[in-house]
Amino acid sequence: MADTKRKVRIFDTTLRDGEQSPGCSMNVAEKIEVAKRLELLNVDIIEAGYPASSPGDLESVKTIAGIIKQSSVAGLCRALEKDIDSAREALKNAVSPRVHIFLATSPIHMEHKLRMTPEQVFERAVSAVKYAKNFCSDVEFSAEDAFRSDPDFVCKVFSAVIAAGASTVNFPDTVGYAMPREFGERVRYIMSHTDGMEKAVFSVHCHNDLGLAAANSLAAIEAGAGQAECTINGIGERAGNASLEEIVMALRVRKDYFDADTRIDSAQIYPASRLVSQVTGVKVQPNKAIVGENAFAHEAGIHQHGVLANPATYEIMTPESVGISKKELVLGKHSGKHALNERLTELGFKLEGRELDDVFARFKALADNKKTVSDRDIEALVIGTAGAVPEKWKLDRWVINAGSSVSATSAIRLEAEDGGMREAVHFGNGCIDAAFNAINKLIGKEVSLEMFELGAITGDADAQGEAMVKISYGDRLWNGRGVSTNIIESAIKAYVSAINSMEAEARPPQAT
Ligand code: KIV
Ligand code: ZN
Repeated sequence: MADTKRKVRIFDTTLRDGEQSPGCSMNVAEKIEVAKRLELLNVDIIEAGYPASSPGDLESVKTIAGIIKQSSVAGLCRALEKDIDSAREALKNAVSPRVHIFLATSPIHMEHKLRMTPEQVFERAVSAVKYAKNFCSDVEFSAEDAFRSDPDFVCKVFSAVIAAGASTVNFPDTVGYAMPREFGERVRYIMSHTDGMEKAVFSVHCHNDLGLAAANSLAAIEAGAGQAECTINGIGERAGNASLEEIVMALRVRKDYFDADTRIDSAQIYPASRLVSQVTGVKVQPNKAIVGENAFAHEAGIHQHGVLANPATYEIMTPESVGISKKELVLGKHSGKHALNERLTELGFKLEGRELDDVFARFKALADNKKTVSDRDIEALVIGTAGAVPEKWKLDRWVINAGSSVSATSAIRLEAEDGGMREAVHFGNGCIDAAFNAINKLIGKEVSLEMFELGAITGDADAQGEAMVKISYGDRLWNGRGVSTNIIESAIKAYVSAINSMEAEARPPQAT
C-alpha cells in the first residue's frame, strides 16, 4: 500500500548543538564520519556547525558540505552579515546548502542578552534573511527562546521573514520549559496566525531540561509542524536536545496515531548511536529509549518467558528495526574479506577499496590474538578509520614496570610524522600515570587528563580493552579512544589519539 503519510523533515543538529555541549567535541575526521552516517540514515538536513564561531568550524562545515550529497547541509549564523558571509563561504560547495539564522525574540533575551528593542530585533531578522537570500534559496530563521516569547511578536517576525524569503521558520523551546499540550497548542496558534505560512515549513527545536523534548516535538508534529530538529542520543546543550531516535521511532511505531512519518532508514539508528557515543566519549545511559543497552533486554523470568513465546508480548518494535542485530555471528581468523564485508554491511557500514582493505588487515591482526571476533569488535575496528586526523605521533612500543611496593616507571617510544623515533622515561602514581607523564615529556607539553575510562568491548576473557580519555590543554578539550587486546596499551593509544586531535588543530588550515 502506498505510504500516504505526510513527511516530517528531520533536521539533525548533532554536529552543531550536540557538538557544542560540554565534553562532546569532535575533531574534523570524526565530524565527517558522523556526517556520512547521518546521510546513510537519510536525514533531510545536517546542521554541520557554526562557521563564524572559529576558523576550524568554518573549515569542517566546508569539508562536510563538499562530501554530503543526499542531505542538505546547514550552517548556523547569528543575524549578522559577517556570520552569514562565513556561512556562504563554508557552504559554497554544498549540493543543497541551507543558511540557518537565529535571533532571540523573548523579552529576557532581547533585554539582557541582545540589549535590543523588539523593533530592532524585527528589523534585524528581516534584513538578515534578505541578505542571506542574495546567495542561498534555502534560508531558515529561528526565533531563539521562542516559547518564552510573546506569541504575537513571534507571528509578526515569522510573517515578515517569510515575506523576506525564509523557507523554514523554527520555533525553539530553547530552555526546555514547555509542557507537551501547551507546546502543541502554541504551535497551532503560531501556524494559524503567521501570514504566508503555506509558503514555509514550520519547524520545532526542543531542549530536554524537563525531560520533555521528544514529547514536545511530537506534540508539535501532531499540531502540524513539518520539521523536527534533534540529535543522535539526544546530546546537546545542558540536558540535551530532542533525540532523533525517539521522535523517529514514536512516529513509526505509532503510525496508527500520527498522520506523519519521516524518511529515516531506522535500521541505521543503532549504528549512528554507537558512532556518536564512541567519537564523543559520552556513554548512552543503559535505560535510554531505543538505543540504550537495556532497551531490548528482558531480565524478569516472566518477561523472558513471554518474549520467547511471542516477542510482541513485551516488545513494541523489533531490535532489528533500529539496527540491533540479534543474530550475533562471530568471525575468526579463517574468515575472509568477503565474510567480513558481509558482516560490516549487516552492521550498517559501507566500506570499499582502501578503507575495507585497512579494516580487513586489522581484523586479521585481531583474529590472531583473539579466538572469536564479535560484532562489537568489528565495530571498534571501523569507528575512527574514515579520514582519521593526521597521526603526528604513533605508538611504537612501551614498557611499564610496576608493583605494590615500587612506583611505576614507563618507557614510551613514539614514532614522529617524519619517521623518527622519540623515547621518554617517567615515573608515576601507577601504570597509566607513568605512561601519560612520559608522553607529556616526549611531546614537550603539560597536557592534563580530564577524564579516563576503561572498559571491555565484549565479555570474554580475551576481550579487547577500550579506553576513552579527555585531555585539556589551555582552555580546550579533546577526546581520544584506543582499542587493544592489552588494556594498558588501549589507554596509551587513547592518550596518543587525543594528542593527535589536539596537534591537528594546532596546524595552519590547509588551503582549499
Ligand atoms: O536552542 C536554540 O534555540 C538553538 C537555536 C540556535 C536554534 O539552538
Ligand atoms: Zn538548541
